[in-house]
Amino acid sequence: MLAFHARFWARFRFGGRKRGILKVPLEVERPLSFSTFSSPSLTRWWMSYGEHIWDKSASAYLRFENKWHYYLRIAEGLLRPLQIDCDSRVLELAGGTGACTLLLSEICAGGQVVCVERSRAMLKLARRSLRRTGRSNVIFAEGDVSGLPELVEGMGKFDSIVCNAAFWQFSEKERLLAALRSLLTPRGFLAFNLPLWGGRDRDLAARRRIMTRIMVAHGIDPKKLFGTTTNVSYEELLGRAGFEVTRDSRYSVVMLPEERKEWRRIPAFSRRWGQLGGVPPDVAAEMRRELAKSKVPLWPENKARRNMWRSIVASPVFPAKRPTK
Ligand SMILES: C[S@@+](CC[C@H](N)C(=O)[O-])C[C@H]1O[C@@H](n2cnc3c(N)ncnc32)[C@H](O)[C@@H]1O
Repeated sequence: MLAFHARFWARFRFGGRKRGILKVPLEVERPLSFSTFSSPSLTRWWMSYGEHIWDKSASAYLRFENKWHYYLRIAEGLLRPLQIDCDSRVLELAGGTGACTLLLSEICAGGQVVCVERSRAMLKLARRSLRRTGRSNVIFAEGDVSGLPELVEGMGKFDSIVCNAAFWQFSEKERLLAALRSLLTPRGFLAFNLPLWGGRDRDLAARRRIMTRIMVAHGIDPKKLFGTTTNVSYEELLGRAGFEVTRDSRYSVVMLPEERKEWRRIPAFSRRWGQLGGVPPDVAAEMRRELAKSKVPLWPENKARRNMWRSIVASPVFPAKRPTK
């Protein structure tokens, strides 16, 4: 009986039988590293963690989204400044349960949206939501974006490629960007957004310094928490893949305290950092204390908060043609 209770508690607390998938803390790494930089080790973590967690999160995610329209508002912030025509062909990456997909299907009512998503459970809900709108201009393709362009083989080129609230999760971004470039029409563009939840870059760096100091004092390699960040910027990645950034802007989306509480109930976003990561609980507790004591602004949990997002638009650059004699 005791064993049953222990097992039940562990499942409830850690959200799954396989503890292996929950090895790295959620809360610290993403705000600190994903907003500005690309880190291969963090991406690997997201990959292994992400495969399971999004299937598990699907129904809670949609319930949350239907109530608060949080991801829809994020998608609106991304799409508003873009020139997407009614008859455009748009490729959407990681469409989830369809918040951005449905908006796109409305914007290009006379065109077509191809939505690639890896989680079968998320995709199933997106399909169902689309059916309810009565529109039929979306093709869903189940699979990992690393499988592009094979996943969309035979579907032709796209006027735009859009990714809402997911781009930092993809692995091998340079290879992916090269594939995306090959899928765009010459006048096409790629648009994606990145969370800047950690606040200003200098606050992120200050927090990171505090955490590093504590880890070093305890003989823990800071890489355990931060990964081997390569500090490759998105501009650089895009440039290497043959893109030119044409717009790099920021916008905010308000998240109310109640909304935030419910967002935390989605398994993918639950607060687990400290207990499960590479950092022992007492060290994590010390970090939290030190961060709270420091003057570095923290994420205010109990106030309405403007979540900052960075939106990047990039166009493929084609080598200038040599003048013919
Ligand atoms: C925060 S949700 C965003 C979903 C959606 N874009 C929206 O606006 O609601 C992240 C989604 O990215 C998907 N995802 C993550 N990595 C992926 C990959 N490599 N290939 C395809 N989908 C991926 C997840 O399955 C999840 O549905």
